[in-house]
Amino acid sequence: VIELRCAPAGLPPSRISIGTGARHLTAERARDGRSWFAIADRRVAELWPDALLPRAVGVELLPGGEGAKTVAVLERLLRAMARAGLDRDSGVLALGGGAVGDVAGLAAALYLRGIELVQVPTTLLAMADSSVGGKTAVDLLEGKNLAGAWWPASEVLVDPEFLRTLPDAEVHAGLAEVLKVAIGLDAELFGLCERGRPAILAREPGVIAAILERAIAAKVRIVEQDPRESGPRRLLNLGHTLGHALEAHSGYALSHGAAVGRGLFTALQVGVHLGVLDRAHATRAKALLEAYGFAADPLPPLDALWPFLVRDKKRTGNAVRFVVPTAIGRSEVRPLPLAELATILTTVAP
Ligand SMILES: NC(=O)c1ccc[n+]([C@@H]2O[C@H](COP(=O)([O-])OP(=O)(O)OC[C@H]3O[C@@H](n4cnc5c(N)ncnc54)[C@H](O)[C@@H]3O)[C@@H](O)[C@H]2O)c1
Repeated sequence: VIELRCAPAGLPPSRISIGTGARHLTAERARDGRSWFAIADRRVAELWPDALLPRAVGVELLPGGEGAKTVAVLERLLRAMARAGLDRDSGVLALGGGAVGDVAGLAAALYLRGIELVQVPTTLLAMADSSVGGKTAVDLLEGKNLAGAWWPASEVLVDPEFLRTLPDAEVHAGLAEVLKVAIGLDAELFGLCERGRPAILAREPGVIAAILERAIAAKVRIVEQDPRESGPRRLLNLGHTLGHALEAHSGYALSHGAAVGRGLFTALQVGVHLGVLDRAHATRAKALLEAYGFAADPLPPLDALWPFLVRDKKRTGNAVRFVVPTAIGRSEVRPLPLAELATILTTVAP
C-alpha cells in the first residue's frame, strides 16, 4: 500500500492509501475508542460486508446512483447521526461510489459544523476522482451538485479489489476520467494506459493501483495549486464542457463516462483546429480512447445541443472557458468564443 498526501492551503489535509487490502485499514484506524458512523452503498455492503466497520455506532445504507444525492437523504443521514449520539470527536466512514461519497461527505461537513470523514471509494470513478479533492454535494431539482461544501476526507482508502464486482459499464465510466487525466495532465499515465490495456481491462489490482497512483497524484498536484477551483483546477474539466451538455441533452440517458469520452474527442479536435495541438498527438490520443471502447459518435443537431452548452457554468460572456489539450499529458484553459465552438462542432470532423 503506497501513501500520498494532499495538503491544499486553507483546507484540512488528506492521507491517501492506495493498494490491495487498503480497505482493511479502516478497522485499524477506527480502533481509537471514538464513535464511527458508517454510510454505505447498499450493494457494496452486501458484496463486501468485511469493508463495514464492525464497531460502528450506526450504519445507514443508501442506494447507489444519483438518487442518493438528495436533500431528503441528507436530512435522513444527519438525523440518524444525531440519534446515534455522534459528537465532535466522532467520524463518518463513507463506503461506496461517488454518489454515496458526495452525500456522506456533505453530511460529515454539516454535522456539528463538521466532523472527520474517511472515504472508502468502491468505483473506479470514485477512486480516481471524486474521493480526493474535497468536493461534496447533493443535487437540487434545479440542477446537479447545487448544494455542497468543501470538506476533504482525512483518510482516503483506495483498494482496487473492489473493482472485481463493479459492473463493466461503471468501469468504463471511470476509465473516461482516468483517460482525461492521461490526455490532459500526465504523459506517463498515458503510456501506462497504452501499454497496460489488457491488464487494466482485466482489472488486475497491481496495474489498477499503478494507474490510480498516477491519476490521483496528478489530481493532488492540481488541487494543491488551486483548492477551490479558481484557476488550474479547471483543467480537470477536460472533455466536460461538451460532456455535460451531451448528458443533459439526453436527459441523463447517456452515461457520464460515455459523454466525457465523447467530449474528449471534441477537445482534441478543438486543439488541432486552434493550432495548439499537433495532429500526431491528437491521433494517438484518439486511438487510445477508441482502444478503451470510446467512440466519436455523431453529435445531436447543434440547435438541440446549444441551450445545454451555453448554460455551462464555465461560461463567461459569450465565450466558454474551454480546456484544450496542447500535447499528450498537457492542456490549458482558453476562452473560446461560442461562435467559434459552433463552427468547430458543425464543420470539423472529429
Ligand atoms: N466530489 C467530486 O469531486 C466528484 C467528482 C466526480 C464525480 N462526482 C459525483 O460522483 C457521482 C458518480 O459516482 P460513481 O460513478 O462512483 O457512481 P455511483 O456512486 O452511483 O455508483 C455506481 C453504481 O455502482 C454500484 N457500485 C459501487 N461500487 C461497487 C462495487 N465495488 N461493486 C459493485 N457495484 C458497485 C453502486 O451501487 C451504483 O449502482 C456523481 O454524482 C458525480 O456528481 C463527484
